[in-house]
Amino acid sequence: MGLQRILVTNAKGGCGKTTIATNIASHYARLGKNVRLFDHDPQGSSLTWINRRSPELTPISGVDASKNSDHRLTRSWQLRVPPETDIALVDSPAGADMNELSLLFQQNDSILIPVLPSPIDIHATAHFIKTLLTTGRARQKMVRLAVVANRVRKNTLMYHSLERFLFSLNIPFISSLRDTQLYARAIEMGIGVQEISTSRNKIDKEQWAPIFRWLDTPVVSETAPVTPLFNRFEQ
Ligand SMILES: Nc1ncnc2c1ncn2[C@@H]1O[C@H](COP(=O)(O)OP(=O)(O)OP(=O)(O)O)[C@@H](O)[C@H]1O
Ligand SMILES: [Mg+2]
Repeated sequence: MGLQRILVTNAKGGCGKTTIATNIASHYARLGKNVRLFDHDPQGSSLTWINRRSPELTPISGVDASKNSDHRLTRSWQLRVPPETDIALVDSPAGADMNELSLLFQQNDSILIPVLPSPIDIHATAHFIKTLLTTGRARQKMVRLAVVANRVRKNTLMYHSLERFLFSLNIPFISSLRDTQLYARAIEMGIGVQEISTSRNKIDKEQWAPIFRWLDTPVVSETAPVTPLFNRFEQ
């Protein structure tokens, strides 16, 4: 399939970008793919996670990209993706503005947006997505976009509000990940939640399956181009 680029992003902090990026990285590494994880967050949480990985596991290369969020980024990006890379994954920082974030986008990227079930997060994400879909810099970049609900507790009023919000968006809502301490445990161990040896993660494996299905859907095709998400006609 060639190089696949995946960005995990939301301007809102603490919604699970690093958690989701590291789980995607470990999944593909486990499948024997060559994974390169770009950490754009000066806090370097993804890189810390990589450093915690056991040497017995398939290695994941980490790139400290936090000092590069400017116009040279696109060029330096090309230089930092060796040809053998299968999956280039970007963990983006909280608080980045849309112009900055959209510099990271490239054609055919898959962009995952985690959202928490809280009024503040829903409001911030609604604003983020609206800007994402209309901002000047991002226009004409043919990217695929999906949202993932994170830290959900089903059958709570807040989760129902989040679901209503996510279904009202014009982009795919592909999965809900439950709120469980297993995610913190996986981060500590340098692995993904699916790799923890416990039967308690069966539900988490099921919740991740649609995300991987969505990511594995081929996007680069001559005959079926991905849909432009950004309004080309607005200036
Ligand atoms: N599904 C989950 N269940 C329980 N805890 C979670 C879940 N997802 C994330 N967390 C916890 O929430 C906190 C924030 O998650 P994470 O660091 O992945 O968010 P982030 O969006 O990368 O934050 P930042 O904006 O600071 O980079 C962490 O303590 C993480 O362990
Ligand atoms: Mg983070």
